[in-house]
Amino acid sequence: MRSDTYWNWCLWMIVCVCCAGSFVGQATAETMIRQDAPDEEKIILTPRPGPAPAIHGPRLFGVRPGKPFIYRIPCTGTRPMVFHVEGLPEGLHVDSKTGIITGNAPDKAGDYVVRLQATNALAKADKEFTIRVGNRLALTPPMGWNSWYIHYNRVTEQHLRQAAEKMVSSGMADFGYQYVNIDDCWMKKKGNAPYRDEQGTVLTNAKFPDIRGMVDFIHARGLRAGTYISPGPWTCAGYVGSYRHEAIDARKFAEWGFDFLKYDWCSYGNVAPGTGVERLKKPYQQMGDILKTLDRDIVLNLCQYGMGEVWRWGGEVGGNCWRTTGDLGLERGSRLPGFYSIGLANAKHYQYAKPGQWNDPDYLLIGWVGAAHGMGTGKPTTLTGHEQYSYMSMWCLMAAPLIFSGDMAKLDDFTLNILGNGEVIAVDQDALGKQARIVLQTDQQFILAKPMEDGSIAVGLFNLGENPQAITVTWEQLQRTGKQRIRDLWRQKEIGMADHRFTTQVARHGVALVRLWPDE
Ligand code: GAL
Repeated sequence: MRSDTYWNWCLWMIVCVCCAGSFVGQATAETMIRQDAPDEEKIILTPRPGPAPAIHGPRLFGVRPGKPFIYRIPCTGTRPMVFHVEGLPEGLHVDSKTGIITGNAPDKAGDYVVRLQATNALAKADKEFTIRVGNRLALTPPMGWNSWYIHYNRVTEQHLRQAAEKMVSSGMADFGYQYVNIDDCWMKKKGNAPYRDEQGTVLTNAKFPDIRGMVDFIHARGLRAGTYISPGPWTCAGYVGSYRHEAIDARKFAEWGFDFLKYDWCSYGNVAPGTGVERLKKPYQQMGDILKTLDRDIVLNLCQYGMGEVWRWGGEVGGNCWRTTGDLGLERGSRLPGFYSIGLANAKHYQYAKPGQWNDPDYLLIGWVGAAHGMGTGKPTTLTGHEQYSYMSMWCLMAAPLIFSGDMAKLDDFTLNILGNGEVIAVDQDALGKQARIVLQTDQQFILAKPMEDGSIAVGLFNLGENPQAITVTWEQLQRTGKQRIRDLWRQKEIGMADHRFTTQVARHGVALVRLWPDE
């Protein structure tokens, strides 16, 4: 089905974002056509996780005092496995078979340093983990899945349940993916009144008969559930929004058990009072304030396409992450796929990212993914293998939320190798929370560099050209001196030592993603 409302919204959004002066992508009025990609073999670079336990995911997790807690220890390795957490504060409990930690966070703010442990027949893994009880959530970028780019207005409760099951059975959860998020289209559509009951509670459409049961199903797997609505009267696809029902909706989301809210501007422009940045801030400040009063932690994702330089104030109004651009799925790059222009636009705002406050360049559109123009059904991505390595590398270097939005039922080995490389994800999830800086950018190449908590630096050397080329990064560009040990993160292999500079051959639209440690 083609949604006219959605197309109107797309047009409106382009106008609106351009007017706000924030549309920094390269798509302009010209119609830009991508060169046909050569028929490249897709080579799997990520080594398969070994049979011994290896604990992945962040080393830091934020929760508010006394609030419900859920965390599934991300761990690869052969099952059965026995999980244990040393020093777990009172009120929290770990299931020794599944590694799911549940309960309520301590009432007293502070750092609770625990040791996560996983043992199987072969070995024991151990990792220090800090539960930071305070007023900040999403201390590392959220990771998970969102329904939009595969199910659009066809989404059902069953898709969400299936996604939760697949997140565990595919191994994605073992690398730290945890959010299972519905996007638009779970409420009643315009024209299908009533939209709310007599108390004002929002009604779901027939495809969502048991939201509470669906959220419980997600939580039972140690995962977290996300929802979506607009501050306007209608969502972008023409379903009911929260306008004048903000508090009652937020309370309902918490009662249903949601852990994440994407709050999408959409039709709010038609009713927004005021002018300038205050007008843009208002609905997000309002929702941010309401969420703070709830008995449940809900991560707030601002979606307003970068208007009014949201990166400058998204954190101040209570946002944990904010979309910096228009929809990636609708983006047409020049000769390049859209993730480059969206990603490079997002990369400019690196100084605004920090723990709990992330720039969001939109979803990971790889694997089996829908056609955004027309909300079409899925087909395999047209990105080459090298382009997919580049995409994931950019997102990790930019400390972006890692939200896959392709078909969870059709995950193939190549897609899982992109999504499931522990050393690559560790760049994204680093507790220092710095976004990579652009070290160099020409029309043929660019380099991103991200300082890491342990004093190392992650560097991506990207080839934008149509042919393989050698790319060099110098220590001067990285503001480092002396010998550095270099590791190839996609292959998980040591490259060796280097002084002054590192040069490597990079494939067409490919990347070399490396990490450098000072030689000690
Ligand atoms: C857009 C948003 C997309 C998706 C869509 C749903 O505004 O940027 O990510 O949520 O609305 O209608």
